[in-house]
Amino acid sequence: MTITKMKAFKHIALLLLASFAMVSCFDSANPNYQYMPNMYEPVGYDTYGEYEIFPGEQEAMLPPEGTIPRGWQPYEYENSNDGLLQAKAELKNPLEVTEQNLESGKALYEIYCAVCHGSKGDGQGILVKNEKILGIPSYADPGRVINEGGTYHVMMFGLNSMGSYASQTDELERWQIVQHVMNLKATLEGTPLLSPTSNEEVSADAEASGASEANSSEEQN
Ligand code: HEC
Repeated sequence: MTITKMKAFKHIALLLLASFAMVSCFDSANPNYQYMPNMYEPVGYDTYGEYEIFPGEQEAMLPPEGTIPRGWQPYEYENSNDGLLQAKAELKNPLEVTEQNLESGKALYEIYCAVCHGSKGDGQGILVKNEKILGIPSYADPGRVINEGGTYHVMMFGLNSMGSYASQTDELERWQIVQHVMNLKATLEGTPLLSPTSNEEVSADAEASGASEANSSEEQN
């Protein structure tokens, strides 16, 4: 071995020794000093953290009483026969009759309701024809007052062997289905259908009166 090689070997050995000495004490379970701990430890409370200051020592607290989820509308009628009668008497469809609402209502009806009630609403769905279920009324059943409010109510809570559709559909979708059911009923009974044109006239009137209001306020200025 030449001298230079010996020297190089010595250097490498020293370097190895030094690097062992530097890392050997490191224990990953017990970190060393933190310089600027705010970089690592959040100043706010950790999500789901445990802190004495909170009730139950839990950062995640229950929402205040009366809180409702975003987009959810409270429904005031009770799940009972009285609730159904009340909904039939008072509850009206807030949706405008539009092509789009009628179309969506029809599509949703075919998905959720037609198996029992039939595409025509005559109570002759595929499950009835195959004798899988009994007692499906026609929407034109003279013994029942089937109207907007009642139809919405039975979708919220179900009725005997009909289940609730409150979890599969949202408020808008239920009212769209109601429009379609009303049209099925009208077709069965031979009465006039809900049609978007009649409402376009109404909104044209509303626009006209809105425009005249705008004009009159300009005049005032
Ligand atoms: C599993 C079969 C089934 C499905 C699916 C179903 N229904 Fe019904 N529906 C029934 C039965 C059974 C009744 C009669 C309940 C009774 O009076 O005991 C009924 C009754 C009704 C009534 C009459 C309520 C009244 O005032 O007497 C309406 C309106 C109605 N359903 C609408 C719907 C709509 C809208 C859908 C789709 C969202 C739907 N149903 C899906 C079985 C079903």
